[in-house]
Amino acid sequence: MPTASLPANFPAPSPLASRWAIDPTLVPLNHGAFGACPTAVLDAQRAHMDRMERDTVTFFVEDASKLLDRSRAALAPLLGCAANDVVFVPNASHGVHAALHNLDLAPGDELLTNAHEYPACLNNARQRCAQTGATLVVAELPWPVPSADALADALLANVTDRTKACLLSSVTSPSAVMMPVERVCRELRARGIEIILDAAHGVGFQHHDLKAWDVAWSTGNAHKWLCSPKGSGWLYVRPDLQPTFRPPVLSNSAQVREPVAAAAGRPPMHVEFDYVGTNDISAYLAIADAAEFLADAAGSIEAYMDHNRALALAGRDAVCRRLGVEPSAPDELTGAIAAIALPTTKPAADLKRALFDRWRIQIPVWEPRTATAGMIGIADTPVVRLSANLYNAIGQYEYLAEALAAEL
Ligand SMILES: Cc1ncc(COP(=O)(O)O)c(C=O)c1O
Repeated sequence: MPTASLPANFPAPSPLASRWAIDPTLVPLNHGAFGACPTAVLDAQRAHMDRMERDTVTFFVEDASKLLDRSRAALAPLLGCAANDVVFVPNASHGVHAALHNLDLAPGDELLTNAHEYPACLNNARQRCAQTGATLVVAELPWPVPSADALADALLANVTDRTKACLLSSVTSPSAVMMPVERVCRELRARGIEIILDAAHGVGFQHHDLKAWDVAWSTGNAHKWLCSPKGSGWLYVRPDLQPTFRPPVLSNSAQVREPVAAAAGRPPMHVEFDYVGTNDISAYLAIADAAEFLADAAGSIEAYMDHNRALALAGRDAVCRRLGVEPSAPDELTGAIAAIALPTTKPAADLKRALFDRWRIQIPVWEPRTATAGMIGIADTPVVRLSANLYNAIGQYEYLAEALAAEL
C-alpha cells in the first residue's frame, strides 16, 4: 500500500523497527502468532545455509550436532535445564506430538488438559487418546480470569486417581495468560502425574524452570519470542526419560543409537533427534544468533522480556480505558501478549477485516465461544489479542484503541 493513502493518524513504530523487514504500512500487533525475524538473524541463517551447501556431507555427518550445541547452550538458561536435555523440532505442534507419542496411555487412563490449550495440541491429544483408549479430560477455565489460584483450582479440580498426565501451556494462546505453572506442577507431581508443558510462547517471554518444575517433556517455538527464523522449535526431555525417548519418525541410528552415541561422545537422544532425515537445520542454528541479537538490542534478554511486558500492559490499558472495559486478566498473569474481551455483538471476522483493511492493523480477533466457526473461542463476545515487541511503540496501541472505538 502506498504510504500516502494511510490514515492521517497512522502511528510510527519504535526506532528499532528498522532492524526488522516488517511492512511499514502495517501496524504489527500479532507477534504472538508467528513472531518476526530481524534481518540480521536472517543473514546469520543464510550464512549457516551457505556453510551447509559448501560441504553437505561434512555438515550433516560430522558437524551438525556440535553446531546445534551453540543453540542448545543459548536456550538452556532460559528454560532452566541442562543444554544436553534439549533437541530440536520444526515447531511446538511437532514437539507436543512427539511428547504424546512417548507417553504410555492405556484404556482407563485419563489425560488432563484445559479448554485454553492450542487447537493443534488438543487435536494431537485427542488422536493419542483415541489410539490408546485413554480419555481426554478438558477442564474449563474461568474467563475473565480472576486470579492465578482460580486457574490452578479449575484445572486441578479435574484430577482423579486415573489421571496419568497433564498437557498444559505455560502461556495460553487464546486467553494470553501466564498459567500458575509452579503450583500446578507441584501438585500434579505430588500425585505422580507427568506433565507435558507446551511452552510455545516460552523462551523470550518468561523464564522457565523446567528442572525445578519436574516436567517430563516441554516444547516451544524460538520463532515467536526469541525472534528466530521459522521452523526453530525445541523439545526438552527429562533425563530419566531420555533412554527410551524416540522421535515419532525414526532415522538411521534408531536401532544402534547407544553404540553410535558412545563412539561419537554424544547423548543418545542427540544422535536420533539431530538427524531425523535430511532437513534444513539452519533455523535451529540461528536460535543462538537470535538470542544474541535480542540481548544486544535490548541490553539483555531480561530487559527484552521486561520491555515487552511493560508495553503490552500499557497497550492493554490504553485499549481498556478507551473502550471503558476492564482487563480480562490481572497484571501479574500478563506478559508480552494480552487478550481483551470486546463489548460488541459484531462478528469477529468482520472486525478483524475492518481493522486490517481500514486501519492497517494486523491483530487477531477470536470468535466468541458460542460461534461454531470459532476455533479458539473463550468468551461470550469477540476477544482481541495484542502483542508487544521491540519494534512496537505505545502510539500503535493508542491507534488501535481509536480504531476499535470507531469500529465498535
Ligand atoms: C500455546 C501454543 N501452543 C502451540 C502452538 C503451535 O505452534 P506451531 O504452530 O508453531 O506448531 C501455538 C502457536 O501459536 C501456541 O500458541
